[in-house]
Amino acid sequence: MHVLVCGGAGYIGSHTCVALAERGHRVVIADNFSNSAPPVLERLARLTGQAPDARRVDVRNAAALAALFAGHRFDAVIHFAALKAVGESCERPLDYFDNNISGTITLLQAMRAADVRRLVFSSSATVYGEPQSVPIDEDAPLSSTNPYGRTKLVMEQLIGDVCTADPGFQAISLRYFNPVGAHPSGLIGEAPNGVPNNLMPYICQVAAGKRERLQIYGGDWPTVDGTGVRDYIHVMDLAQAHVHALEKLDGVRGHLPLNLGAGRGISVLELLRAFETASGREIPYRIVDRRVGDVAEVYADPSRAERLLGWRTQLDVDAMCRDAWRWQSMNPDGYAET
Ligand code: NAD
Ligand code: UFG
Repeated sequence: MHVLVCGGAGYIGSHTCVALAERGHRVVIADNFSNSAPPVLERLARLTGQAPDARRVDVRNAAALAALFAGHRFDAVIHFAALKAVGESCERPLDYFDNNISGTITLLQAMRAADVRRLVFSSSATVYGEPQSVPIDEDAPLSSTNPYGRTKLVMEQLIGDVCTADPGFQAISLRYFNPVGAHPSGLIGEAPNGVPNNLMPYICQVAAGKRERLQIYGGDWPTVDGTGVRDYIHVMDLAQAHVHALEKLDGVRGHLPLNLGAGRGISVLELLRAFETASGREIPYRIVDRRVGDVAEVYADPSRAERLLGWRTQLDVDAMCRDAWRWQSMNPDGYAET
C-alpha cells in the first residue's frame, strides 16, 4: 500500500516506518520535527536500504497537506502526529488542543478532499482515565484526567463521528499501553528532550550516569510490591501491530478501537530489576511521594486486537530492557551527534 505516515519521524512512527518498509509498503513521512530530529531519516535509510520520502509538514497546514495528497495516491494514513507530555499539557492546554485536535481535523478534511478513507490512529490507554478495574477491555468507560488525555479522547470521537457520517470511512484507533524499548540494531529509539517523564527513559539515563538516581513515585500502592504497575509493550511489537492494522483496515466497518498491550502488569521495581540484569548496571533509587494523577495498576486485555488483527506481543520485558539499554549506550545524546 501507499501510506502517508504523519509523525513518522517520532519514536513509534520511525519504528513503524521500518516495519512497513519490510512488508513492502511505500511510505511518505509528514512531520514538523517539533519533537523529533531529521537525523532519524538517515538511520531509517540505513535500516531499510533506501532514503525515506520525508517532508517537513505540519498537519495543521491545510495547504501543505492538500499539496501532499495532490502529488500522491495514498491508500491510507497512519496518524502519529501529536504532542504527548501530560505535565506540559497541563501548563499549555491550548497548544495541545491546537496541535492535536486542530491537526486531526485538518488531516481528516484533507483526507476527505482527496477521497482517502482509511486511517490508523495513535490513541492511548489514557482514554480510560482512572480505570475502575483491570485488565481493561475496549468497552471500559472512557474519561480523561488531563488536557493531553482529553485531546486523545476528542480525537477518537472525531474519527468515530466521521466514520458514522461516511460509512465508507474505515478507521482503527490503537490504544497503546506503555511503549518502551528500541530497534534491536540500536539505530533508532526514544530520544526525549530534557528530563524524561517516563520510567524507561529515566532508568536508561540513570544507568548511563546522566541522572543520579530514579525517584519511584510511591511505595505504598496496593500492588504486588507497593510500586505502580503498568503494561509495558516493546515498540517493535507495536510497530508490527500497525502493519497488521493497516492490512486489516479494508475489512473494518466504521471506527474500531483496539488495545495494544502485553496483557501483563509489571511493577516499577520489577522493571528496574530486569533492567539491572539486562544492563549489568546498578540503578540507585529512592521511594518518594506518589505522583499526582498516577494510579496503582493499569494493564490491558489485548484479546480483541489479538483476535481481529491476528497479532500478539512477542517480546518480553528482558528484550525491552536490553534493547532500550543498547539504544541508550550507542546514542548517549539521542540523535544529537549524528
Ligand atoms: P513522538 O513525539 O516521538 O512522535 C510524534 C511525532 O509527531 C514527532 O516526530 C513530532 O515532531 C510529530 N508532530 C507533532 N505534532 C505535529 C504536527 N502538528 N504536524 C506534524 N508532525 C507533528 O511521540 P511517540 O511516542 O512516537 O508517539 C506517537 C503517538 O502515539 C502520539 O500521538 C502519542 O500521543 C501516542 N502515544 C504515545 C505513547 C508513548 O508512551 N510514547 C503512549 C500512548 C500513545
Ligand atoms: N515512575 C516512577 N518514576 C519515574 C517515572 C515513572 O516511579 O521517574 C512510575 C510511575 O509512577 C508509574 C510507572 O512508573 O507507576 C510508569 O510511569 P510512566 O510515566 O512511564 O507511564 P504512565 O503509565 O504514567 O503514562 C504513560 C504515558 C501517558 C499515557 C499512559 C497510558 O506517559 O501519556 O502511559 O498510555 F497516557
